[in-house]
Amino acid sequence: MAAFKTLDDLGDVTGKVALVRVDLNLPMADGRATDLTRANAVAPTILELADAGAKVLLLAHFGRPKGERHSTLSLSLIQGEMERVLGREIMFIPEVSGPVAEQAVGIMRAGDIGLLENTRFWPGEEKNDPAFAQGIAAIGDFYVNDAFSAAHRAHASTEGLAHLLPAYAGRAMEKELNALEAALGSPQTPVAAVVGGAKVSTKLAVLENLVGKVQHLIIGGGMANTFLAARGVDVGKSLCEHDLTGTAEAIMEAADKSGCTVHLPYDVVVATEFAANPASLRICNVHEVAPDEMILDVGPQAVEALGDVLKTCRTLVWNGPMGAFEIVPFDAATVGLAKTAAALSVEGSLTSVAGGGDTVAALNHAGVAGDFTYISTAGGAFLEWMEGKVLPGVAALEA
Ligand code: 3PG
Repeated sequence: MAAFKTLDDLGDVTGKVALVRVDLNLPMADGRATDLTRANAVAPTILELADAGAKVLLLAHFGRPKGERHSTLSLSLIQGEMERVLGREIMFIPEVSGPVAEQAVGIMRAGDIGLLENTRFWPGEEKNDPAFAQGIAAIGDFYVNDAFSAAHRAHASTEGLAHLLPAYAGRAMEKELNALEAALGSPQTPVAAVVGGAKVSTKLAVLENLVGKVQHLIIGGGMANTFLAARGVDVGKSLCEHDLTGTAEAIMEAADKSGCTVHLPYDVVVATEFAANPASLRICNVHEVAPDEMILDVGPQAVEALGDVLKTCRTLVWNGPMGAFEIVPFDAATVGLAKTAAALSVEGSLTSVAGGGDTVAALNHAGVAGDFTYISTAGGAFLEWMEGKVLPGVAALEA
């Protein structure tokens, strides 16, 4: 892995202005954040820099305002949450550059924390406009990127600034990059990947990349139906992208060639309606799905067999649920397999890394998120990493 600088490489920062890119794109309801995971993740970096005497300026986006000010997307709405998380007062600064920002920095003392306005209020952010980035860089002495979950965006605050100021990975970014390196960069083998979720079409690039990198590819969720259909299984009324069965076949052929075993369920949980504990629920072999039934989860025998596969592996990468986990009892396969993975991780025989979209919610639901070796808070960035893409925000730190 290319090297990147961390906070350990900083000299004396007393009185210096740190521009710290964080991801404060928090899910909100009624003006309050419903999940503070991302805010908690960046707290160590902010506190470390403040305690070392830097003036810490937080840079972040919030929602997708597309280059215009929207009061409902002002980062002032996050100020209170962030103060509670940090246990410190924060000064809100309604700009990201120019005289107002300069004045604010002027009155900050060593160790103070400021929160700049939503970077996406300015069109230069998403365009990665050098002049816009220069304006921000002018108020700082060095740049710290602690927002892996925004690193797939080549924006001024995630990429451009790293070329204009001495650039460092924050503690959360450092942890994330080390965990990802251990999972797919130079992992201990055999490696298993669990890829679930509704549609093959959203994870094609992920599957294509993984078959060349892992020894076991476990496919679950609605996307398994497309693979089953490609193998000639009649999946009844199940969610299935029939137009992609050829692609699924090609992925299985590529897997074969590179020595990757693709695991599909051989027993499944089916029902004629998608509701909690439906009367029509039954467990059957994949070849016995009736025309009016839907596959809603992987069956118990397959879960046990997949657990045995994990027991032979040293590394696991997990993205996406195994079934329709939001509705009981179609969460059983996700919960069952996640528990096996968690137990193996606690035992020390498996390095387990999970992330992306619904994954964290699914593992929290299974009650095992804390037992995985590493859980990424990233959505799109985690998927792009699983696709084998270079993330611009990371590449800029490694430059
Ligand atoms: C996220 O919420 O995944 C990141 O903050 C990136 O947000 P974006 O998809 O709006 O760029």
